[in-house]
Amino acid sequence: MRSLVNPDILRVRPYEPGKPVEEVKRELGLKRVIKLASNENPLGPSPEAVRAIKEFASKINFYPDGGGYYLKKALSKKLFIEDKNIILGNGSDEIIAMVSRIFLTRGEEAIVPTPSFLMYKIDVKISGGKIISVPLKNFRIDLKSIKEAITPRTKLIFIANPNNPTGTIVKKDEVREFLESIPESILTVFDEAYYEYVENEEYPQTLEFMKERNILVLRTFSKIYGLAGLRIGYGITKEEIVDILNRVRPPFNVNSLAQIAALASINDDYQIKRSRELVREGKKFLYSHLRKMGISFVPTEANFILIKVGENAKEVENRLLHRGIIVREMTPYNLPEYIRVSIGTMEQNEEFVRELQVSLR
Ligand SMILES: Cc1ncc(COP(=O)(O)O)c(C=O)c1O
Repeated sequence: MRSLVNPDILRVRPYEPGKPVEEVKRELGLKRVIKLASNENPLGPSPEAVRAIKEFASKINFYPDGGGYYLKKALSKKLFIEDKNIILGNGSDEIIAMVSRIFLTRGEEAIVPTPSFLMYKIDVKISGGKIISVPLKNFRIDLKSIKEAITPRTKLIFIANPNNPTGTIVKKDEVREFLESIPESILTVFDEAYYEYVENEEYPQTLEFMKERNILVLRTFSKIYGLAGLRIGYGITKEEIVDILNRVRPPFNVNSLAQIAALASINDDYQIKRSRELVREGKKFLYSHLRKMGISFVPTEANFILIKVGENAKEVENRLLHRGIIVREMTPYNLPEYIRVSIGTMEQNEEFVRELQVSLR
């Protein structure tokens, strides 16, 4: 059977998502489980989104609006761009897959900072492209080394900003200099899944570069908007690139409930403010407790923290799991001494700190 399969696909190791709460409850016989493994919003979705879904539920016999007309209108108004610069995806994941498929033919190169979001490498492999890994420097994406890694075969560069799993950012000036100095023949993907959480003033507004440079900015409703289960994200780029993406986009890739919920969430400023505050407070709490415990961590601009627990991170993950807390050990990211922990509600953060203390003993 394997001989029938495209060899590029056989090279792919499937993405391992954070374990769902129900699975852990079922398998370990636990009553209460907290998931701090996938950087979701612990406050849940906007109540406006829930209301809109309930109202719309009886209309799901119809196919969704394949063009996402109303959502694109709302996004373009919010972001001061035009509808024709937006592509909607079944999660931003789907746009990463589309872009890899479109831009890479066999042997062409995509530069992927390492470690970073695992889907970049998976999608480059699926597309038959060649991954050029560029290590982070001090846990930050190193734009200088990325520039040096460019060859005539480079087609794509992936920059998660903030980066997952480190939570670090590349800064305004660095980005400007970088974009001005790389060839026109490359598409740079700025994956801004955690955009809404960033508080650093040096964070770039990459949309400003959209007209002059070949960039694709990715955002999502999965994180601060709390709609991860519905699968909806979007890309912002030149009209020319949107047109090409539309050639591979399945006609009804974003379901109607996702569109309705995103539309209802988009102007719920209160929910965004609450979610940001929760992360700000949570960060403060976790930083101070980790420092007291003598545990090092990478200061973050996102809603998760990379924490150094020592050589036995897998074991620590497992102990926490048995105590009802799901976190991610970072072996798949080549950081075997680290765990990545999403910032939860204050109660969850307190519980995490308590259980971490026990699990490290
Ligand atoms: C950097 C980054 N990009 C993209 C995604 C995927 O987001 P979505 O749910 O929109 O597919 C994630 C999710 O963890 C992420 O961390």
